[in-house]
Amino acid sequence: MRKLLPSLLFLLLKLSYTFAGSPFVATTWAFTQATINAWEQLNSYDLALDALTVGCRTCQAMQCDFTVGYGGSPDENGESTLDALIFDGNTMNMGAVGGLRGIKDAIGVARKVLENTQHSFLVGSLATAFAKDMGFPEESLTTNYSSNQYETWKESNCQPNFWQDVTPDPTKSCGPYKPKSTCSLRRRHPDPILTNEIPQDIPESVFNTGNHDTIGMIVMNAYGHLVAGTSTNGANHKIPGRVGDSPIPGAGAYADSEVGAAVGTGDGDVMMRFLPSFLAVEQMRQGATPSQAAQTAIDRITRKYPSFFGGIVAVDKNGTVGAACNGMDRFPYTVANRTSNGAVVYYADCKQT
Ligand code: GLY
Repeated sequence: MRKLLPSLLFLLLKLSYTFAGSPFVATTWAFTQATINAWEQLNSYDLALDALTVGCRTCQAMQCDFTVGYGGSPDENGESTLDALIFDGNTMNMGAVGGLRGIKDAIGVARKVLENTQHSFLVGSLATAFAKDMGFPEESLTTNYSSNQYETWKESNCQPNFWQDVTPDPTKSCGPYKPKSTCSLRRRHPDPILTNEIPQDIPESVFNTGNHDTIGMIVMNAYGHLVAGTSTNGANHKIPGRVGDSPIPGAGAYADSEVGAAVGTGDGDVMMRFLPSFLAVEQMRQGATPSQAAQTAIDRITRKYPSFFGGIVAVDKNGTVGAACNGMDRFPYTVANRTSNGAVVYYADCKQT
């Protein structure tokens, strides 16, 4: 028996390795072409990071919904800037870029941050300099479409925008704005009362079902290597310098190959405050199903922001996919796996109680 033990152990290890998981790709929204391209890449090489890069790159090149890649969501100066994240659930290493200027392949640059630096996150013009060193071409991200979006916004008195408590009135003007109070130390409001009973809400959100905002993608290969990532051009008419939730680990995406992964999409200024992807993964670690985990992450946000717009896709290490959402009727997400015969679009019901 003693002699047999090592062989038995080896067999057990081999079996658990072989059945580590059923490979899949899961993506926010009905981004089917991105999902298919990632799935085909996964089938060819079984490398999760490569498949995720190919999938997000597809959406960047297709300018999915004009909210991923160049030529969309111009900021208040008319410039499109990009956010992206790639998170490796085996190593818990990551690469991210925020407010990337003049480089189209945001997920590619995030991958370089992951693989060619000991850093996690580079931002703005200096991220552009890094990308150029890594061989990415610098080019304008402005297109006729984004110029028109910008001009239309200016003609409508710069509405909507993200300013508050400034002068002149941001609901009626284009600025430039100054804070209403000239004395920054003066307290004009009492501190918020420490309670969970006071719901806040969002004045007006530019995020809606016609403005999908982010590709979030989760990939697992045949050996159970889970990775998650995002790519977006952020919020339409954002204040220059704004970075959303998408490149922030635990907010836009999170993965742990021992447990599962999650990605988020929606109003990133609100979402990043709750780290919903991290929360969903931790819920699965505690035994929640992916659907329950995603719902818990959404509930945590809606408790304070009842009309918040967004969705979470969560997948456990066995490939079971779940999603939850708020602020729309139903939230589409796309899955490709060995049984799906291509990419299949599913819908989470956001109205469930
Ligand atoms: N969720 C994308 C953003 O807020 O930038």
